[in-house]
Amino acid sequence: MFIRRKLGWELPESAATPEAVFRQRRQLCKAIAAGPILLAGGTMLTGCKEDGMEALAATSDDPSAGLYPVERNARYELDRELSSEELATTYNNYYEFGSSKNIWRYAQELPIRPWTIAIDGMVEKPFEIGIDDLLAKMPLEERLYRHRCVEAWSMAVPWSGFAMAELVKLAKPLSSAKYVRMVSFEDPEVARGQEASWYPWPYIEGLTMAEATNELAFMVTGIYGKALPKQNGAPLRLATPWKYGFKSTKGIVRFEFTDQRPVSFWETIQGREYGFWANVNPEVPHPRWSQATETPLGSNERVPTLLFNGYADYVADLYEGMEGERLFM
Ligand code: MTE
Repeated sequence: MFIRRKLGWELPESAATPEAVFRQRRQLCKAIAAGPILLAGGTMLTGCKEDGMEALAATSDDPSAGLYPVERNARYELDRELSSEELATTYNNYYEFGSSKNIWRYAQELPIRPWTIAIDGMVEKPFEIGIDDLLAKMPLEERLYRHRCVEAWSMAVPWSGFAMAELVKLAKPLSSAKYVRMVSFEDPEVARGQEASWYPWPYIEGLTMAEATNELAFMVTGIYGKALPKQNGAPLRLATPWKYGFKSTKGIVRFEFTDQRPVSFWETIQGREYGFWANVNPEVPHPRWSQATETPLGSNERVPTLLFNGYADYVADLYEGMEGERLFM
């Protein structure tokens, strides 16, 4: 029987750390270390650099380090300041390593070479490819993207990587394929969160073919002009900036093309709250909190959340005629 556990964003308001605690940086760091927090009602997210912390850059066991920085694609502009590198690389969601935000240290245990990616299912010919061979084939670029977590915090970061459409081209899916199902690594020996058998490991996410080939869908391999740190999903993660952040799968080892809609990790756990589409919409609240505003990392203010996280011009047409679907959950 499945044992229901509280998710990171399921703390009741009464259990959120009192606001006074958030007024002092050191105390906030302790609060984050103690466990997940619900970011509601004007909490502040500040830097939490610890003495001697080396979380910011990818580790030296990453042979792709020399590929970065890559040229920025000026098409993707931001309407806000970039988040601090320190915060974006030390305030993370990566349940494989635990449910708190400061898992960056535990994530260093993950071996990211060799790293083999399987491309299979409804494709002309299934194959496997090592991450460095994949990187050599892909046109790398940098994009400035917003990221909106379902927990109502947000960030703006310079990702490096390549358009997911390029990966789809390489995969050569059959015309009968309707979805791509992404599977993350599974290794409970190094990922302590995967010892928790109540979670349906591995982490799974999915996109329609139209979403996967939309120009915004981006395979991320770097951040802030460097190879991606492990805590942010090295060596390969997704960024779909118009969707809630849980769609942006980290540590991907498999792309399966299929005609069946994938059932995601969070959908399996709580489908009423975390659905397949998960498009950002400030007017559709999460069943237990508002999605109207968000707290940018490093800020103590709430700013309005935008429809499709501000990317409606790129993606709204993907959903025309689909009003019967739960597009924003
Ligand atoms: N991918 C995996 N494999 N495991 C996870 O727990 N968390 C998701 C997403 N991708 C998650 C994941 C969530 S909820 C968010 S908000 C983003 O990763 C966080 O990305 P970041 O830590 O780089 O900010």
